[in-house]
Amino acid sequence: MDLFSTPAPESARKRVQELTQLVDHYNYEYYMNDTSLVSDFEFDALLRELMDLEHQYPELALPTSPTKRVGGEVNKTFRQVTHRFPMLSLGNTYSIEEIEDFETRTRKLLDGVPFSYTCELKYDGVAIGLTYRHGQLVQAVTRGNGTVGDDITANARTIPTIPLRLRGKYPDDFEARGEVVYPFEAFEAMNRQRVAEGEAPFANPRNAASGSLKLQDSAECAKRKLMFCMYFMMLPSGELESLQQEGNNNAGEGGETSLAEGLATHSGRLAAAKQMGFKVQPYIRECKDIDEIKSFIDYWDKERWNLPFGIDGVVIKVNQTPLWDMLGTTAKSPRWAIAYKFKAERVSTPLLSVSYQVGRTGVVTPVANMKPVWLGGTTVKRATLNNADFMAKLDLHEGDHLLVEKGGEIIPKIVGVDMDFRRSDAAPIAYTAVCPVCGTPLVRAEGEAGYYCPNSDGCLPQLLGHLEHFVSRKAMDIDSLGSERLKLLYDAGLVRNVADLYDLKREQLIGLGRVDSTSQGEGLLMDETDASSSTTVTATIQQKGADNILNALEQSKQVPFERVLFALGIRYVGEVGAKKLARHFGNIDALMSAGAEELAQVEDVGEVTAQTVYQYFSEPEHRLIVQRLKAAGLQMEAVDTRVGNALEGMTIVVSGVFKHFSRDEIKASIEQNGGKASGSISGKTTYFLTGEKVGPEKMKKAEKLSIPLLTEEQYMDMIGMKTE
Ligand code: IVH
Repeated sequence: MDLFSTPAPESARKRVQELTQLVDHYNYEYYMNDTSLVSDFEFDALLRELMDLEHQYPELALPTSPTKRVGGEVNKTFRQVTHRFPMLSLGNTYSIEEIEDFETRTRKLLDGVPFSYTCELKYDGVAIGLTYRHGQLVQAVTRGNGTVGDDITANARTIPTIPLRLRGKYPDDFEARGEVVYPFEAFEAMNRQRVAEGEAPFANPRNAASGSLKLQDSAECAKRKLMFCMYFMMLPSGELESLQQEGNNNAGEGGETSLAEGLATHSGRLAAAKQMGFKVQPYIRECKDIDEIKSFIDYWDKERWNLPFGIDGVVIKVNQTPLWDMLGTTAKSPRWAIAYKFKAERVSTPLLSVSYQVGRTGVVTPVANMKPVWLGGTTVKRATLNNADFMAKLDLHEGDHLLVEKGGEIIPKIVGVDMDFRRSDAAPIAYTAVCPVCGTPLVRAEGEAGYYCPNSDGCLPQLLGHLEHFVSRKAMDIDSLGSERLKLLYDAGLVRNVADLYDLKREQLIGLGRVDSTSQGEGLLMDETDASSSTTVTATIQQKGADNILNALEQSKQVPFERVLFALGIRYVGEVGAKKLARHFGNIDALMSAGAEELAQVEDVGEVTAQTVYQYFSEPEHRLIVQRLKAAGLQMEAVDTRVGNALEGMTIVVSGVFKHFSRDEIKASIEQNGGKASGSISGKTTYFLTGEKVGPEKMKKAEKLSIPLLTEEQYMDMIGMKTE
């Protein structure tokens, strides 16, 4: 607690309680029962009031407060946690015969004891364990290797279907296990946004869920609409017995079964979990024999495509939990459960043609156009052929039939050619030699599987890609210019390169896009679509919009040089490279006149990048664009961010996790104090700056070369930073 803050008055304490209950209740109804009891506006007002009170009186801000759902906590690293109970995996199979064997074996082992099974869905996501003590969420950990996982509590708190505080009756100490999944709709929306912002889309919902849980900023995680599906309640030994001893204390009113009785079956545990506030999927069935198990499997093998999230099979468990001990576990998995995995659905369909998409970076991706075929709940008519190497491996011929598969994911995959249909006289299909948009001969970067169109300034998808990159958040951050508006500016002939943006006039902008018809867009590409696509004009720029654009352009003139350099979109020059180049050369003129060799001297700039930068600035067109940007007032000089010279002449290597800095922050701090942050220990290293969990290899090397060690506190002393 902050020593200087005044203690919260009773009225504030009461109001926080009231607000917490209200917000919790509205959240619960919204996420568990799909019911909106208040408008978004009212809800936001209550949440804001609660946040303000917690801000004013920090002692009232509990970790289980609904305000934690919006995130804000930043994880520098994820603490590794040893699971209290190892997270076992399940034996799994694709074969119904093995499910039959499992059923026979189980019945034999239980030798006449009456029992049943539960069949439920096998969620295709990321397994996590949630620890609850006295009804409060205290920790969330990923499965990791089953023994040790990452502490992702701050991110888990932002998932609305993870209760922070339990309702009704609950065991005092238990772990709720389940899967974090990314529902298809939210996943696709997020991927669309990523592509619009120039970021790579996630390959599938599972990867996206996993990436989201590892986000450093929990507020970002809060934006990813993840869902937690609980599938297992882990009770420490003794917990059930002590609940039983408490006996009727836990019995519900009106003769309901006691909590302890309910917890004696897996289905009862899930039903109890639902009462506690967990989102438990309703697709669970108690089955008494193999026939019922098989019909559950058959049903979901077909129905799975109609679910709003991905599943990859069915899990069959013995329902009576006291029997679990009798059946025991093997080294890796319990004997009382098994997973049946669905086979990917596969069809064969004729290939009609191969078309090519030109991406915003110029990469040309081949696409197979096929006779439409029904596969896993949707009609499939196009699928990616990935790149030239993949096409060559398939050895495609005219008239071929392709084998297409759909697994637990949404995207169909081409897995081969159906050779039964190969005609002996069929001609092979070769990867295109020229860009399908601008006709420029394609080139292949060494070591890469794909070809790209080198006409980066004249090929429309690339040009639009450049413009989008230029205005993107991490570059010039001109958010009033989205991809639609940039396309409008292009279609109106106003913008052909990034420098043209700064010549835009208010009167040119107003009314743009008013033609509400379909324009052919010169038959070129708007998105990563093929060359036959057309564009519907949807955005109109009004007076206010025009002012916003011009203001944002004006503001972008303050963006520091390193980001301007990144915004130019020179191949291989990412954020870090741009920073290093900006710092090394100090201004654009020095950078433009540097030779390739000099460029390669810059830390982290390899030969290929150096050559590319050199070539970029050798083009008169690029020099002209830079001159025009400079004349428009963009920052073309690095501002000295130095705060001191305490580390002048020193080369410092950092390793481990620090209390007061992230890894990037501590490196930046070294440079701001005149030192050089280097990645590897050598004879030139002045100090080895060590946090927690230092890399053992580095430590060995530092010892061998007798490099003096520096702790974080000593470092902070050196640069005159105070530690509390
Ligand atoms: S039960 C000790 N039930 O499948 C048994 N697992 O190897 C605990 N999974 O990574 C697992 N849906 O995360 C269970 N309904 C379900 C499941 C499920 C998905 C995952 C689990 C694990 C893998 C099994």
